[in-house]
Amino acid sequence: IARGSGYATLPSVLLLGPSGAGKTSLVTLLERRGPRPSQTHTTQVVHSVELAVADDPSKPPNYRDDLDQSESTASKFLLVDTPGHGKLRGAALDRLHRLAGVATAGDKNKKSKSKEASKLKAVVFLADAAALADQDELSATAAYLYDVLLVLQKRIGTGTGSRHPASVPVLVAANKADLFTALPPALVKSHLEAELSRIRRTRSKALLDSGVGTEDVDAAGAGEQDDWLGEFGTDKFTFDQLKEVVEVEVIGGNIVGEGPGVDKWWAWIADKL
Ligand code: GTP
Repeated sequence: IARGSGYATLPSVLLLGPSGAGKTSLVTLLERRGPRPSQTHTTQVVHSVELAVADDPSKPPNYRDDLDQSESTASKFLLVDTPGHGKLRGAALDRLHRLAGVATAGDKNKKSKSKEASKLKAVVFLADAAALADQDELSATAAYLYDVLLVLQKRIGTGTGSRHPASVPVLVAANKADLFTALPPALVKSHLEAELSRIRRTRSKALLDSGVGTEDVDAAGAGEQDDWLGEFGTDKFTFDQLKEVVEVEVIGGNIVGEGPGVDKWWAWIADKL
C-alpha cells in the first residue's frame, strides 16, 4: 500500500525511553525483519514506521515473517520512535500527551480530545539494563518512566461520565541482555520500583514545600493526589498499584548480540493490538 495512506487510522505503539536505550535500533531491526547492522544516531524528531503482525492464532507472531509474501492477513500498526535525549524529550512527551488525549500544562483549559487518542494501543519503554546498576542512569530512566506513567494514569481520570478511556499497557523492555553487566528483568523491575518510590517522595515534598498557603490546603491536596503515581499515601511504589489503570510488564531482551532477542517484546506488542 502507498506509504501514508492509512496513517490517519492505524493503531499506534509509542516507543519511549532514555537516549541510548536502543529505540532506533529496535525500529530498524523490526522494519528490516532481521539483524542487518545499521548505524544509529541520536534521534532528533518523532518518526513512525508502518509494521504488521500476522492475524494467525495458530502460531506465535514472528517479526521475521514477510507478510507481503504470505497468504495470511495481517494487522498493520505504526511504531512511533521518539528522541530520548533530555533536551529533545519534550517532543516525545508531547506526542504521548496527544496520543493519550491528556492535556499538557500549556493547554490546560483546552479539552485535548485529539482524534489520535483512541489509537494508542501500547507504550514500549526501552531501558538499558546494562546501565541501570549505575545510580545516575537509574535515576534518569526512572524519572522519565515516572512522567510517562503519570500521563497514562491521568488519562484514565479524563473520561467523562462512566466512559473511561481504555487503559494503555506499558512494556518496560529491559534491553542489552547480551551484555554481562545487564540486570535480569526481575532486578530491573525492583530497582525501578525503588527509584520510583524515591522520586514520588521527593516530588510530593517539593509540592508541599512550594509555599502553598493553608487556605489552599484542599486545592493543594487535590493537586498532590493528581501528581502522585500509584496508591496515594503509600510509602513504597509498586507497578502493581497501577494495575487498574496501567498494566506494566518488564521483559528482558536484546537487539544486537547473543541473547533472548526481541521475540517476547514482539509477542507482547502483537497481543496488545
Ligand atoms: P536516542 O536516539 O538518542 O534516543 O537513542 P536510542 O534509544 O534510539 O538508541 P540507539 O538505537 O541509537 O542505540 C544506542 C546504542 O546502543 C547503539 O550503539 C546500539 O548499537 C546499542 N544497542 C542497542 N541495542 C543493543 C543491545 O541489545 N545490546 C547492545 N550491546 N547494544 C545495543
